[in-house]
Amino acid sequence: ICSAVSVATRRQHVATQMSAQEEKTKIPVSSHNEWDLLEEVIVGRAENACVPEFTTEVKANTYEKYWPFYQKYGGKPFPKKHIQKAVEEVEEMCSILQQEGVVVRRPDVVEWEKAFETPDFKSRGMYAAMPRDILIVIGNEIIEAPMAWRSRFFEYRAYRSLIKEYFTEGAKWTAAPKPLMSDELYDMNYPMHSVQDRHELAKKGQFVTTEFEPCFDAADFIRAGRDIFVQRSQVTNLMGIKWMERHLGPEYNLHQLTFKDPNPMHIDATFNIIGPGLVVANPDRPCNEMHLFKKAGWTVVEAPTPTRSDDLPLWMSSKWLSMNVLMLDEERVMCDKNEIPTMKMFEELGITTIPVDIQHANSLGGAFHCWTTDVRRRGELKSYF
Ligand code: NVA
Repeated sequence: ICSAVSVATRRQHVATQMSAQEEKTKIPVSSHNEWDLLEEVIVGRAENACVPEFTTEVKANTYEKYWPFYQKYGGKPFPKKHIQKAVEEVEEMCSILQQEGVVVRRPDVVEWEKAFETPDFKSRGMYAAMPRDILIVIGNEIIEAPMAWRSRFFEYRAYRSLIKEYFTEGAKWTAAPKPLMSDELYDMNYPMHSVQDRHELAKKGQFVTTEFEPCFDAADFIRAGRDIFVQRSQVTNLMGIKWMERHLGPEYNLHQLTFKDPNPMHIDATFNIIGPGLVVANPDRPCNEMHLFKKAGWTVVEAPTPTRSDDLPLWMSSKWLSMNVLMLDEERVMCDKNEIPTMKMFEELGITTIPVDIQHANSLGGAFHCWTTDVRRRGELKSYF
């Protein structure tokens, strides 16, 4: 547990490292990996969060247990009391980040329930709770992901005030090609009756999104300097991966990883890189390319089994949110206060835990990594792999 003294010392350290001149010429967006000293972060919002309509792509990514919930609430706000609790938890998380010396920024408040129509489909919005899903910072560039769920088509709008500000101050800003999200992007007959079905399909590389056009969620990528890792998932297709590879160019190596996972969507509760050559891996979803990491001399630590009870719903994710942590630097991790075995694992690794409770916020599909996007981390572009 991080004491007030160590926070003060760290702040002083940062302050002396950064001269006034440096402060003036600093590019506002700069991050190369998941663990350098975190200076500025965007934290999502639960306000006005809506349950996505129960379309094919949503069905393929959610657990059968919650299908009746989607049938009932799809297109409507999430239960009000629950959201109120989530809002409070996230406020508390923001103030803890601030106490740790991190600048916290928030997206705009948006009316997500409003219906919209494009030439190809009709929908309502979802939320701006998970900036990690939609924004990725690579060096000085902030990239808006195209997304793959129709309810998320206009999600970028919540972040435009912030992104315009970063752009004005010198950041490079890219919006990946917007998909049409017409019916051709989805396998409308995607079979999804049992986990076994999905295992077989995922193994064969068959997902609910087709290769009609590029699509991806930013959270299927994870950064380690010049090496970036990505998975083909229910929301990230091969064309999306190709777009990113070509966009980043020869300075980066984009590696596609595969996992034994019946429901791949977002890599950060499956394979979370938390330090230079240090990964927390999900033992339920083994990586088929593990030999590459062994060869590179990386340390791969198995995440302990999550301990979360079923008292509160997880409408959009598994319990493996326990490993969806946010590194404030190589030695400090923001993690779930209730996940004692996970905290113990970090302490054994010599990493100080900053325990926070966002159990209601977790119900919306993410923990600390998902709920944030790091805008600025202090460090250089390096090779670790
Ligand atoms: N879809 C994954 C990742 C969530 C962050 C899961 O449910 O475990």
